[in-house]
Amino acid sequence: MAQSLNQNDTAVLDLHYINKCLVNLEEVLKNNQIHTKNDFKNWLNDYQYIYGTSQTNIKLYLISALLYFVGLTFISKFIFENDTNPTNDLKRLVEVQRITEQKYQNVKLFEYGYFTPLVTLSEREDLSLFNGLIINLSEYIFNLDIEPVYFFDYMIQKIISPITRHKSGEYYTPPFLVKKMVKESYKFGQTILDPCCGSGNFLIEVIKLIKSQKKSKNEKNIAINNVYGFDINPISIYISKINILYMVKNDFPGININMVVYDSLFHTKQEYDESFDLIIGNPPWYTYRDIESVEYQEKIKILAEALEVKPLPKNILNLEISTLFFVRSVKVFMKDNAKIFFVITKGVITGSHASRFRNFKNLSDIKIWMFNRTIEKVFNIDFICLYGQKSNEKIKSNEEATGYHFKLRIEKSKLDYYENLNLELENVEILIPYSVEKRGRKTYTKKLIPRALKKNLILLKESFYKTLFHKGADLNPRNLIFVNFEEINDGLVKINPDKRIFQRSKAPWDKVVFNDEIIEKNYLFKVVKSTELVKFLNYDYYDVFLPLSISDLSFNYENLASNAHKFYDKINNFYIKHKKETTKHNSLMENLNRWSKLINKRQISKIKVVYNNSGSILCSTVIQGDFLVTGDLTFYDTENLDEAYYLSATLNSSLLTKQIQIVKSSRHIFKLPLDFPIIKFDETSLSHQKLVKLGKKAQKIAEKTAIEISEQNLKFLSKFKFQNILKDKLKTIFIEIDKILLKEFAIHKF
Ligand SMILES: C[S@@+](CC[C@H](N)C(=O)[O-])C[C@H]1O[C@@H](n2cnc3c(N)ncnc32)[C@H](O)[C@@H]1O
Repeated sequence: MAQSLNQNDTAVLDLHYINKCLVNLEEVLKNNQIHTKNDFKNWLNDYQYIYGTSQTNIKLYLISALLYFVGLTFISKFIFENDTNPTNDLKRLVEVQRITEQKYQNVKLFEYGYFTPLVTLSEREDLSLFNGLIINLSEYIFNLDIEPVYFFDYMIQKIISPITRHKSGEYYTPPFLVKKMVKESYKFGQTILDPCCGSGNFLIEVIKLIKSQKKSKNEKNIAINNVYGFDINPISIYISKINILYMVKNDFPGININMVVYDSLFHTKQEYDESFDLIIGNPPWYTYRDIESVEYQEKIKILAEALEVKPLPKNILNLEISTLFFVRSVKVFMKDNAKIFFVITKGVITGSHASRFRNFKNLSDIKIWMFNRTIEKVFNIDFICLYGQKSNEKIKSNEEATGYHFKLRIEKSKLDYYENLNLELENVEILIPYSVEKRGRKTYTKKLIPRALKKNLILLKESFYKTLFHKGADLNPRNLIFVNFEEINDGLVKINPDKRIFQRSKAPWDKVVFNDEIIEKNYLFKVVKSTELVKFLNYDYYDVFLPLSISDLSFNYENLASNAHKFYDKINNFYIKHKKETTKHNSLMENLNRWSKLINKRQISKIKVVYNNSGSILCSTVIQGDFLVTGDLTFYDTENLDEAYYLSATLNSSLLTKQIQIVKSSRHIFKLPLDFPIIKFDETSLSHQKLVKLGKKAQKIAEKTAIEISEQNLKFLSKFKFQNILKDKLKTIFIEIDKILLKEFAIHKF
């Protein structure tokens, strides 16, 4: 007798209960020595390659087995249209596979013995829980109000954890989008491949289209025989076969179902080389950073280089694996003039990690579908659909792509993922890279931007200052060192964690590690951060404990004054105990001074020009005095105050903020402002003198405004509002600065 998930209502998917059953079953399998069974070992070996070692465990084995057996109950009910209740007898279920293969002679449903140990053990009392789960899951998904071909997508997304699915990029494309992509790209009879087909969504849509055409049965049969799907996961291939059988049922008993377990990145068999007219699909979405195994990372690096998409070393962690699937498909699977159409991360049109991918080598007619936020209601990931045609001509780099902007036509408040939703084309524009850079034999195509915007872009040319600006010091974990203090006497202060920092801290650094600690005052340093930076002003600073000499920032542990010594030991011990295993720094001080960003001459300088490393508005100011700079700011140290104001006026200009907004590919700014032709300060230049004056004037106005605000006790005025007040007050100054810079940049761009 089947055990019910929920005694009263089998139509409720009680995930908590399923998980409980799986935990029990894990124990049962362990007790039955599952690890010693060859079939299980084969499964483990194959699936560790797919999901990595951390996620491949008995629980995943049980879930895969559930999918396999529920698949067989599905065949009984929906393909053989057997009306009896699903059986939980595993031996009888396996028979369904044999009967299916007998009926569809060209179909091999599942060629793996992975789950034989479960069939062998199935008559044991303690395994009845598993049999019960098969019945309950079957009954649950078979009653869903969606097309049967989506039952398994639904089940997978419910019962396999997102963390596990992320390891192999298992996210499914909503049917309405699949339908639109197929309609726009597939022509009857073409050879078509989805190289990462999952449960076969794209191919099912193709078969639907084939079936709906006014063609003979034989023509349709041939067209279906030209539909191919690859996936690395045997269970995905098994499910896609079942879905396709459901589509053809009794109409085409002799068809070939070309769903193949195949590694589309590394397979070297040549039987499918240059075979296809259309490649379509949604390859896995994960980055190099997500890969667990060092060997696999190495393989990916080599492949990325061979495919000419490997980014610069600083961007390697963000390498999108989907771009490898794209380029390898073009290279290996496509006939000349064939087309490719992939759902892919939006970052590939903007991110610097994809700048070699954007060369779109050997492709022409690049089309990019983009979507506004209406689509988030059903598909909440940042994606685009990317189309191209394989080209015989030696196209080195593409000059332009066509961007199509869509929105979802929403007719009701609640949208259903499986519904036939409508996409409306809002506008079309030409996209071009804002620049194309050659480094040796490698080409880097920068972010794609609308052609109309390119006209507003100043020609890029590396600034004289590019190598002279430096990132500040990452003073982490902040909670251990950012303090509030009270004077006790001349030399001593009482310190407590700075509440401003504490509010934003995250585990494990969110604990109060010290309280009313007494230290020598000369270990407190004034520090500036980007959080208080607006244009022309840094309106607040922080007090930070650092075990350094105030005169030259040197670290001499032995010579620390006694209280500072004790306090450093305390926070250092806490740091060592809680730091990540992968962090290579062995002490708090090493961590604070990583890349020597803290202990250096630049930090001691009394005049600094700083700007923010991320955000949408570039803000800068001149900092004078003994202030250290944190890693969320970039700064330049100088002895020439006029030079500092010249730079701050330039960096604060509306012109530069607009330019950066055009070329920026993420929240990060880093060295982008210095890709514009900001030339070396020249005291004799009239325009530079004017910029100095404007810079000084603007900073005075900003300081005065801050004082007015604090006098009016507008303590809680947000940074955003402060910025807006300043923007208004500095309006004429910004106009003047822009006028000068436009002339300057025009002269010096070549
Ligand atoms: C994003 S899902 C796409 C599923 C389907 N195309 C859809 O949109 O509904 C990605 C699929 O790629 C498969 N996959 C991961 N690595 C692969 C590889 N090296 N070769 C072939 N398939 C792979 C995963 O098993 C998963 O089914």
